[in-house]
Amino acid sequence: MSRPLTPADLAKQAAGRRAVDFVEPGMRVGLGTGSTAEWFVRALGEKVRAGDLARVVGVPTSIRTGKLAEAEGVKLTTLDEAGWLDLTVDGADEIDPELSLIKGGGGALLQEKIVATASDRMIVIADPSKQVQALGAFPLPIEIVPFGWETTKAIVERLLTEFEVAGRRATLRLDKDAPFLTDGGHMILDLHLGRIEKPKALAARLLAVPGVVETGLFINIADLAVIGHEDGETEIVTRAGA
Ligand code: A5P
Repeated sequence: MSRPLTPADLAKQAAGRRAVDFVEPGMRVGLGTGSTAEWFVRALGEKVRAGDLARVVGVPTSIRTGKLAEAEGVKLTTLDEAGWLDLTVDGADEIDPELSLIKGGGGALLQEKIVATASDRMIVIADPSKQVQALGAFPLPIEIVPFGWETTKAIVERLLTEFEVAGRRATLRLDKDAPFLTDGGHMILDLHLGRIEKPKALAARLLAVPGVVETGLFINIADLAVIGHEDGETEIVTRAGA
């Protein structure tokens, strides 16, 4: 027997369902990763199975999402096959008023960013707990290559001293006792920063470190947010200038 839905589940479900209204027949759609994105994939599957969204194809951002989408009857393709996407729908760990995001809590940030930036439009879906005034309370994930990871970690911690942040600790993400590995075979460092004053500058500085593959800061990528509420209501937040 499945467990009853929590208020947070209901809010995520509402956001996921509402986001399906933005999908049109024939669209190539990026499918995000995480518990909120899963509600979107389920809702998309329902519509596809009902015959309401002919010729829609999905590009999953993780193996996990790909399996769910297949089980839901959503036809899949690869990003290379699709070339470019009409829309990507994904969750986030934090969303600020400019729709800058922290992503990567689920460990799929690199593929999520590749897919989102290869899309005409990205819609972020979330429950209200993800909305923040300033990013950083959620530890910022960065994807790094395993080779020399301890040195990369030390370099990252040192460069954090150049930034106005409330904390500067980096921790290697673990999966039980071993390092967590992404679908791309990379490791993740979680940066416990508390508050990030200059996300754009920080992202650029982190990306300049050779061992860093990508950061979980998504700036100027999301065009619109769908915030779901536990009563099933949703609100749309747009990014100024998008
Ligand atoms: C996956 O790597 C993440 O970017 C998720 O999109 C993010 O962690 C949100 O996940 P939930 O929807 O499960 O909160």
